[in-house]
Amino acid sequence: MEKKEFAQKFANAFAQLGLNVIDDKTGKPLSEAEVAQLAEDNLVYTEHPRDYYEQLYRKKIKGWYSTKKDEDKAVKRMLKVRKEIITLLQSANRDGIENVIQYLDDRGFYYRASSPNGHHNFPGGLAEHSLGVYKYAKKAAKKYSLDEDSVKIAALLHDICKADRFWFEGRSIHKHHPKSNADKGHGSRSVMIIRNCGVSLSQQERRAIRWHMSDPNYNTEEETKDYYRAIKEDLRNVVNDSDHKDAADHPASHRKNQK
Ligand SMILES: [Fe+2]
Ligand SMILES: [Fe+2]
Repeated sequence: MEKKEFAQKFANAFAQLGLNVIDDKTGKPLSEAEVAQLAEDNLVYTEHPRDYYEQLYRKKIKGWYSTKKDEDKAVKRMLKVRKEIITLLQSANRDGIENVIQYLDDRGFYYRASSPNGHHNFPGGLAEHSLGVYKYAKKAAKKYSLDEDSVKIAALLHDICKADRFWFEGRSIHKHHPKSNADKGHGSRSVMIIRNCGVSLSQQERRAIRWHMSDPNYNTEEETKDYYRAIKEDLRNVVNDSDHKDAADHPASHRKNQK
């Protein structure tokens, strides 16, 4: 449910019960619209109990690990990485970030692989990679005096477009829309998703995400200019470099047919 819609329902329910919300400053009851606005402004992301995610992740990666011990370890790690990423995103001072956090959960970001045949091709690989890129970028951020929130947003979300892209079936990783060439332009899809969640990006953040790959697929003159501008910017270069470094830490470890 949309945040606004939920806030309105909350305000309606209050009104129907004949309850008033008193304004602290004036001591007068707020109107239904004011209650809805107040609710909307203060709504925070609420999550399911930890058990819910644990069971969900187990179900989604069923058959990947040959022992229960390995599966337990992997699920535990996913939960840890999830918590860390959510805490970091929440600490970024950015409107709409709760929608991004919701999106990540809804699309299965924390149990997905980063790719079928490339780096981080194991359950939880995508989130681990995103956190890994952030950790490298954070180290470099000081050197270039980069804005902390920009680093969090650009590094943690550069591959958000993969949140619903790969799925597991036993020991195989499959790709949704295997015939599309969406992978090549995946930076632009990430930008689109973040914006659709209601988060505004600075031009540098947008370029860092859009052009985080080293093999850009610019098509128009405008895109070409944008790319050449991006590669002169520290934020983009830090994300690009961190992406490579973290990918190299976890090279492809598994190869199976994909659908
Ligand atoms: Fe990427
Ligand atoms: Fe990446």
